[in-house]
Amino acid sequence: MNYQPHAQIWEQRATIRTRPRRIIENDEKSFYPKERQPLCYDPIIVKLGDEVLDQVLLQSLYKYINDIVIFETEIVNKTALDIAKGRFPFEFSFDARYDAMSVVIDEDYHAFVAMDFQNQLEQQTGIKPFRTFDEIELSRAIPRAIASLADPAHKAGMELIAVAISENTVTSDVAAFANDNTVKRSIKGIMADHLADEGRHSRFWIELVKIYWREIDEASRIAIGEALPRFLGEYLTNEIQKEFDTALVEQLNLPQVVQKRVIDNLVGGYPIGSQHPMIANIRRFFNASGLLDHEPTREQLKHYIAS
Ligand SMILES: [Fe+2]
Ligand SMILES: [Fe+2]
Repeated sequence: MNYQPHAQIWEQRATIRTRPRRIIENDEKSFYPKERQPLCYDPIIVKLGDEVLDQVLLQSLYKYINDIVIFETEIVNKTALDIAKGRFPFEFSFDARYDAMSVVIDEDYHAFVAMDFQNQLEQQTGIKPFRTFDEIELSRAIPRAIASLADPAHKAGMELIAVAISENTVTSDVAAFANDNTVKRSIKGIMADHLADEGRHSRFWIELVKIYWREIDEASRIAIGEALPRFLGEYLTNEIQKEFDTALVEQLNLPQVVQKRVIDNLVGGYPIGSQHPMIANIRRFFNASGLLDHEPTREQLKHYIAS
């Protein structure tokens, strides 16, 4: 099966090739979609007024931006660069490695834009992130899934598939953000730019997994297939989001009793059930990548593919 290159499309459409720098506007619109931050619907927070709500949304945007930087530079680009430089222990064609390098460029550019935006926001509002987190859920889930495989020969494949899954789930997440009309135009704009590149990435990772999955031996497919539910279990949590929201509430200077009530309300506020949009994307990825053509793997994933 031949790899379908995207280099030509990249030359025409990559945002680093086509988009101007965006400047944040000083208007009434929000920094972040309220729907993405359950705290905005807490009756106590609502009662505290718009200034507190704005704080919550700005800090949530800072976290989102920081998460993007971690995801792009530490997770996706670690794997993409290994593939581009031929360090990944599987032989991909020149076209695939060249496209992997374009993914590295895109992701570094997304991280660059994110840094620019964080700085512009700090300048405009005079408010810095109250705390910077250095991990996202994937920072824990991927190394744990890799470590769970006994045979070193299976570890890189696990990493490839984990990155491919996350590149396919994050895409829809950015889409929901880019379409929210309550959010500042420039912020929606950077999300839309990002999305334009991610559609290409999503197909790129699917292509690589397809090729990889077809060519590895049965023992590898079984071992990786067994590790996948472990990976998904760790990926699809909101532990860090909960940690963040708790810390955010703690620094709002609320009376102790009120603070405790808001934090208590957070518990259980983040289910990722089978109706969650991330699950729909993961299901789509499983189908498109060919992983489900392998019966034992399909069996392992039945919890995720049953609708
Ligand atoms: Fe990206
Ligand atoms: Fe990407």
